[in-house]
Formats: sequence, C-alpha cells, structure tokens
Amino acid sequence: MADIHEVEHLPAEYYSDFISTAAKERKPSPIRNLLPLEKVPGVISLLAGKPNASTFPFTSLSFSARSPTDPTQESTLTIDGAELEAGLQYGDTAGFKPLLDWIFGLQDALHGRRRGEGWKVSMGGGSQDLIYKAVNVMVDPGDSVLVESPVYAGVIPIFHSLHCNLIEVETDAQGIRSSSLRSILEEWPADKPKPKVLYTVPYGCNPTGATATLERRKEVLKLAREHNFIILEDDPYFYLYYGKEPRYPSYFALELEEPEVGRVLRFDSLSKILSAGIRIGFASGPEALLEAIDEHTATSNLQTSSLTQAIVYKLLDSWTYEGFRTHTEMVSEFYRQKRDVFESAMRKYLTGLAEWSQPEAGLFFWFKLLLAENEGKGDSEITIKTKAFEKGVLALPGTHFLPNGGPTPYVRASFSLTGEEDVDRAVRRIREAILDVREVNGCGVKVSGERNGAACY
Ligand SMILES: Cc1ncc(COP(=O)(O)O)c(C=O)c1O
Repeated sequence: MADIHEVEHLPAEYYSDFISTAAKERKPSPIRNLLPLEKVPGVISLLAGKPNASTFPFTSLSFSARSPTDPTQESTLTIDGAELEAGLQYGDTAGFKPLLDWIFGLQDALHGRRRGEGWKVSMGGGSQDLIYKAVNVMVDPGDSVLVESPVYAGVIPIFHSLHCNLIEVETDAQGIRSSSLRSILEEWPADKPKPKVLYTVPYGCNPTGATATLERRKEVLKLAREHNFIILEDDPYFYLYYGKEPRYPSYFALELEEPEVGRVLRFDSLSKILSAGIRIGFASGPEALLEAIDEHTATSNLQTSSLTQAIVYKLLDSWTYEGFRTHTEMVSEFYRQKRDVFESAMRKYLTGLAEWSQPEAGLFFWFKLLLAENEGKGDSEITIKTKAFEKGVLALPGTHFLPNGGPTPYVRASFSLTGEEDVDRAVRRIREAILDVREVNGCGVKVSGERNGAACY
C-alpha cells in the first residue's frame, strides 16, 4: 500500500459543494462541541448536564462469548470500574474512543488507510443510521442521485423523502455496470446539475447477491473523479465474502491508486458478524463529510449507545485483529454452506423455471422467473406475493428493489436462516406456485372461458 506521505487527499473546501443546505445551516451543538475539552488535564468541567454515575444501579457487567479460534470454548468478559462508568455515561458524538481507535487500526489493516490521511471514523446505530444521515447532509431536496438498480430497498425511502430524482445505474452478475454509469454521465444535460452521489453495495449486493469486479470498481472510481461525485460504498456484506478467488479491494482501498483520495464514503456494519440487534455500524471517509454527519447526530440521537460500544470494544479487544479475522472467516464459510444448500434445491426444483447467478458473498439469491409475457405481465408479484404465500413460503418480489418501481420477473430469497429440510420445502413450494400460475394463464387451463395460448417454458 502507498506510504502515508505519498497520499494526497482532497482539501476540506472541496466538500463545500457536497454538503446540503440543511447541513450547512445546522449550528454546531455548543455542549457537544466542547465535550472533548473535558479531557484536557487539570480542567474542572461544569459543562454538561451529565448524570452522576454513582447513582446508577449497575455495578458490573459480565458476558460470555465463544472463542473465535475454538467455538466450543467460552470466556467471560467483565466491564466494571471506569470502563463501566464510561459505558453508562454520555460520550463523544463520533463514538467511544477505544472502539474508534480499534476501527482505525482495522481500516488500516484491511483497506490500507492510515490515520492522518484526511479521513476519520464515526459510529452509528447500525450502518442504516449513518447512511440516512450521510444522504441528509449531502443531498438537497430535488437533487439527482445515482443509485444502482435494483437497489437495497432500505435506501429508497431516504431518497424519496428528499424528493430526489433517482437515476438508475444498471447492474448485472458483475455488479454495477460502469458502462451504464458512463453513458448516463456523458449524456447528462449541460443545463442540469450533475449528481453528487452514487449509492452502491459492492459485495454480495442486497438484493442481487452480485459482487462488483475489480475492473468495474476501478472504472467507477475513475468516473467519480471525471464527473465529480462521491461514492457511497455501503458494504455490510464485505465480511461475508466466500468466493474462491482472493477478494477485490474495497473502493475505500482502491482509491489509494487515484491521484488523490476523498471520493469514497464507506459504511461498515457489525450486524451480520457480531449482532444485528446491538445496532453498531461505522462510516469511514472524508473528515468534512463525517463532521457534518456528527453534527446531525449531535442534534438527533446525540450519540450511539456508549454501553453497546463498550461491550463491542471489550469483545474485539479481547479477540485482537487476528481473532476478528478468524471469526469473520468462520461466518462467511457458514453462509457459503447455506448458499450451496439453497442452490442445490434451486437446481432440483427451478431448473427451466428460473435463472440465477451464484452469489459469492452475502445472504441472497436473486432469481428471474421465466414467465411468459402474459403471466402477470412479466412480473413476479402475483406468483410470489400471492401464490407462493398461499402455499406457505415468503419471498420478496423484485419490484420492491426498483428505485422507480415497475414490474420485474425477479425475486429475492434470503438463505441465511433456513435449515436444509425447510429450504427443500420452500423451493418446492415456489416451483408449485410458478406452475400454478402458468396453468391458470393458459397451459391447458381455461381463463375466462377461453384458452389464452401463453407459451410455456
Ligand atoms: C445493503 C444494506 N445496507 C444497510 C443495511 C443496514 O444494516 P445495519 O444493520 O448495519 O443498519 C442492510 C441491512 O440488511 C443492507 O442490506
């Protein structure tokens, strides 16, 4: 990786055009901004309305956790004294310092990004919290934004609430199609402001399961430089990569090969590897953008829970980076096996009825029902939402992942929880639902008194 002295980063002024009017107008929180000064040695703080921790009933917190190297072994970790007091008290807006330091080290080890290169980390209540805030501090109402299509359904309402013009960038089994992105940008009308952000999920995308190839990633980064936009790299499935080839670098790592860094705002999540309910995610990226996000936090939820951050830190610190790597490898191998079980059921029941690409990361199969034109107008909604559910299986019709809605023959199935027998049952029920709809639509069954003659394939 590049040496720290060779890394050029975009200056703070560059981001002025990327901060929304609402974020620019937001006044810094007077108390939260001064909180770090409490740590100056010798200072007596009369600043914040912090409750006195001696009145809190908790005296010690112990939990047991499986060893990453030997899951049959458990160890008990205890948080008490000053550590517990910090966990029970208000803390810094950006996050619990020991955890932030640990994450800085992680990003250095995994993405080659050193501290002092003009980037920082902020913690959030899951990555969703940070994505919501990032969009709100960067995008003005009515702005055009680039989103891969299909896209993670959880971001559509964020953009809709700002009345954004959602520009759909095509994707395929190799992830986001940089050629589609290039055409959009090269044909962009001269009298209209260009989009400031691109949202993409590069590993095991939700919903498509696709992982963006190295060539695509490099091309997208080049386009970000040429057309001046920030890549929102939402990567909750980064640690769930189980492909045979060595993993591709993240956008956050790859931008080190660019003339200067600062066009990637990366979102990580602990939801899929430690706990989804603990609600911890983190954003890494240009200081100016993260500071705007912190200001948003300071006026919304004040901070991410100190206690859950203290628990996560206690665990990660006891594991070391090596233990974390071992744990995440175990998790990704778990999901690789789940994928294989699901895919063999798909081959058994859906061959000739659906098409799919094998995911190399994440939790999802995205499959295309081979519907005739007049079977629900090439849309999976009736087959999946109505028929398959009647037969006792729930999956999500693809239309929910289209930024601007509309019909699609695709379906998203999550294979994270289901055991082998239930997978077999579920996929068989999907087969039956497809066959039922085909029959009703004309493969030998009368519709409204006449055959409609649909092709059956
Ligand atoms: C693509 C994507 N982004 C963000 C999230 C939200 O994750 P978190 O639990 O970290 O908020 C999810 C959750 O499934 C997701 O699939």
